[in-house]
Amino acid sequence: MNLKFKQNEKKIIKSINNANVFIQRKKEKELLENVGKIIKSIPPANFNDKKWFQKSFITGNQRDDLLASKGVFYITEGRKLFLDTTAGHYQMTWGYNHPFLMKNLNDALKMGIAWDCHSNIPGFFVKKLSEKIVQICTYGKTDDNILEIDNSLNTVLLGIATGSVACSTAMKLALNYFKQQKRDKKKIVFVSLNGNYHGTDFLMQRLRGMWDWIFSENLIFEAIEPNNIEELNNVFKKHGENIAGFFFEPVMMNREAILLDKDFVLEARKLTKSVDALMIVDEIQTCCWCPEIFMYKQFDVIPDILILGKGLTAGFHPLSCIVYKRKLDSLKQYDAISTNGNAPLPSFMALCCLHLVEKSAQKIKNLGSYYEKQLKKLVHEFPGLVTSIQGKGFLSGIKLRNQETALEFHRKCIKKGIWLRVHAYYQGHSTALTKFALVVSKNIIDFTTEKFREILKSL
Ligand SMILES: Cc1ncc(COP(=O)(O)O)c(C=O)c1O
Repeated sequence: MNLKFKQNEKKIIKSINNANVFIQRKKEKELLENVGKIIKSIPPANFNDKKWFQKSFITGNQRDDLLASKGVFYITEGRKLFLDTTAGHYQMTWGYNHPFLMKNLNDALKMGIAWDCHSNIPGFFVKKLSEKIVQICTYGKTDDNILEIDNSLNTVLLGIATGSVACSTAMKLALNYFKQQKRDKKKIVFVSLNGNYHGTDFLMQRLRGMWDWIFSENLIFEAIEPNNIEELNNVFKKHGENIAGFFFEPVMMNREAILLDKDFVLEARKLTKSVDALMIVDEIQTCCWCPEIFMYKQFDVIPDILILGKGLTAGFHPLSCIVYKRKLDSLKQYDAISTNGNAPLPSFMALCCLHLVEKSAQKIKNLGSYYEKQLKKLVHEFPGLVTSIQGKGFLSGIKLRNQETALEFHRKCIKKGIWLRVHAYYQGHSTALTKFALVVSKNIIDFTTEKFREILKSL
């Protein structure tokens, strides 16, 4: 390495190298045997601290920070081996350093594919990715007629890096459409679901109840309970044509992995159509994690706007986009953009990721439902302790009897080297969350559910 490091930092780098050699050389079975253990062969080091971070980020045990990783495994600075059941921060579609993606990345670098460029000169891979996304939405069709079909997701705005910008871009399209179609309406209403998460943009946070004091009374945000058809009907009855858009996530990974019912989504489609409001599906969590690639297809609806991000590049580099019907195409070139949003190399990585999902569709389906079945057994084995299994396939929530139990379950999992998340910070929320990277195997699923069983027995 040509960079200059201090003596203690050289020790850190030695530790990283050793951890990497350890994790790369070990087979899945050996790694499973070591989950939760300290790997003593890795030399310890005095790792640098997080004191320069913002206060809210200086959480957790310093020794739990990442040292090296492979597939669904990682080793911490404290040299403990973890099994990651959440694909990083829900974005590493194929886990850490997937061999196919690594090989293609190396080939792409050798080929000289640029990391990034000006968004006015996107180049082959960015254009190819836009075509691929339309092709997935249109069940394989990409002839020019698709551009003429009104009810077709045929337009891609791909110049944005993060999901938050993608969500706010969708809202801008909805606002423009509202202005164009309903100029006489004095109030603009957005409907979403309680417990939603559409990113960190101001308006997206307003959708989940924040910043009420800075917005005018003309812009109304209504949140209803997921899957409550009565509330859905009431809100549409109350606001009618003042509604500009209805936002939802197919699986609410920020609200205990609640899966939306098909009936609810079909009713929402009917109601949005009846008042000419847009149906906006946020698939930042769900995209690339199901055999159909985009989960909206499971509801038999065509949304007006589809939002993609996170897993699209398998965590290589953030790249988000919205896909929508051509009649909504109202933004000017720089109205929604990120400097790194038209990047050729991340687009190439997204194409590789989509290729893997397409190739592995059957495996994703089989293993996803196997995992679901294994988790559901826990409801019968631990009645009164495990209340239900939520979500679908790999996006799953284990709902426990109450907040304390969920927090204790989470604490014990982390102690045993099983990395997962928990929603137990709001009244009534008591769910442990997993979203396995798609490299997961049957053995890993069996190992994990057995660990859950052991922990549940001890509660
Ligand atoms: C459903 C959903 N929408 C939007 C976002 C925001 O995406 P980003 O964090 O890339 O801005 C997230 C991120 O977690 C998400 O899960």
